[in-house]
Amino acid sequence: MSLIGIIGGSGLSQYPGLQIDESRDMETAFGMPSAPLRIGRLNQHQVVFLPRHGDNHHIAPHRINYRANIDALRQLGVSHILAVAAVGGISEEYGPGTLAVPDQLIDYTHSREVSFFSDAFSADKHIDFTYPYHPAVREAILEAGRKLTLNPVDGGTYGAVQGPRLETAAEIRRMAKDGCDLVGMTGMPEAYLAKEAGIPYATLAVVANWAAGVTGSELSMAEIEQTLAGGIDNVRALIAGVIGLPSLR
Ligand code: HPA
Repeated sequence: MSLIGIIGGSGLSQYPGLQIDESRDMETAFGMPSAPLRIGRLNQHQVVFLPRHGDNHHIAPHRINYRANIDALRQLGVSHILAVAAVGGISEEYGPGTLAVPDQLIDYTHSREVSFFSDAFSADKHIDFTYPYHPAVREAILEAGRKLTLNPVDGGTYGAVQGPRLETAAEIRRMAKDGCDLVGMTGMPEAYLAKEAGIPYATLAVVANWAAGVTGSELSMAEIEQTLAGGIDNVRALIAGVIGLPSLR
C-alpha cells in the first residue's frame, strides 16, 4: 500500500481541500520538522502533507530543517514524495505559469545539513545520485498532468541556490551556461535526503517568474505571488491526479 507525502512550497503552505484527520507534532533525531504533519485524505486517498516553509511561510529556505522534514515523513511510512516547488524560469520553454518536472539538478547551496549520516559516516554512505529524481514519481506527475491537459514540461535541470535573496543577472547567466533551466531555493538537500532515506522523490516545479535578468526588468515579489496564486488550482488538481493514479498505489 502506498502513502504519498506531499511537501508544499511557496504558494502551497496551506492545503484547502485536504481533509485533515490528524495534525501530528513530531520530533526526530534531527530536530523538529517545519510544521505538524497533516495526515489526511485527498479524494479518499490517504496522504501526508508538510509545508516546508512552515504554516505561515516563516522559515527561510536556508533555515528549513530538511533532515527533520524527510525523517518525519519516513517515520510516518511515506512510500513516495511529491515535492512542489516554486522556481524561476531560465530557459525559453519555462516561462511564468509553466509546470515542469525536472530530471536533473545542480546544487549551488552551501552551509546546509546535507546528510543523515554526518555524525555516523562510513564509506558505503557515498550514495549514488546520478539521477536525482525518481522515474516512477516523475512519470506519475507527467501522466496526471497530461490527463488534465496541463502538459508539464518533461525534464530540465533545476539549479538549487542558497537564497533567501534572488539572484543577480550574472548568476543566472552563469547558471544558464551550466545548463540550468530552472532556479529555486529548496531543491537541495531535500532531494538527496529523500534518496538517503530510500523514498522515491520527484519535484513538480511551478514557474513563478522569469529568472533575474532574463527580461531585463527587476523581479517583484508581488508578481511572483500573483503568478503562483493564479496557478495553484492547477497544481492542486495535478496533485489530486497523481494521488489517484494506480501506478503509485
Ligand atoms: N530564484 C530563486 N528561487 C525562486 C525564484 C527565482 O527567480 N522564483 C521562485 N523561486
